[in-house]
Amino acid sequence: KEESKLALITRFIRQFPDFPSKGIVFRDICPIMKHPAALTAVMDLFEKHVRETQPLVDLIVGIDARGFLFGPLLAQRLGVGFVMVRKKGKLPGPTVSVAYTLEYGTAEAEIQEDSVSPGQKVVLIDDLLATGGTLFAACELMKKRGAEILGCLVVVELNDLSGREKLKPHAVFSLIQY
Ligand code: PRP
Ligand code: ADE
Repeated sequence: KEESKLALITRFIRQFPDFPSKGIVFRDICPIMKHPAALTAVMDLFEKHVRETQPLVDLIVGIDARGFLFGPLLAQRLGVGFVMVRKKGKLPGPTVSVAYTLEYGTAEAEIQEDSVSPGQKVVLIDDLLATGGTLFAACELMKKRGAEILGCLVVVELNDLSGREKLKPHAVFSLIQY
């Protein structure tokens, strides 16, 4: 049954060679969002994993921008809150930020200072893990606020880029690997 959910999800991930720059194979999850059964399969697998492995989670932390597609749905299923890690300059009030590099560039990630309290147990979520630079930066922000990181969730993991290694000791759960 979970095999068929994964098979369904796989059918709705496309690849675009040389986007956004030459040599990058972009894995596009947009079709998942257009197909309710595929999106439900994604959420079912994430929910099951978190309920089984991280039942004490306090907050889901979503990464700008595609982490925002899945994070709030998961938070609502689990009955916990959702927090945004945004690209720098988007959030009002006191913020904490950190610079990072990703597969095809550099950026700065930011959270509101009061988004997470010391000791809160967080699970981070994004659509895709490539080099791990983005999720690593998000973990740094969580540590700055004293949060306890329970793990990271992604729909797609690009094995060759070793993001999983970069995020150690934090656990990564991915649905589809390329
Ligand atoms: C993509 C993707 C991840 C990140 C992964 O986001 O959604 O957040 O790159 O790459 P990494 O593991 O090498 O860090 P992008 O920065 O393109 O932003 P977007 O979601 O706003 O399009
Ligand atoms: N983010 C970083 N690398 C990516 C890729 N190859 N496809 C989609 N999103 C990405």
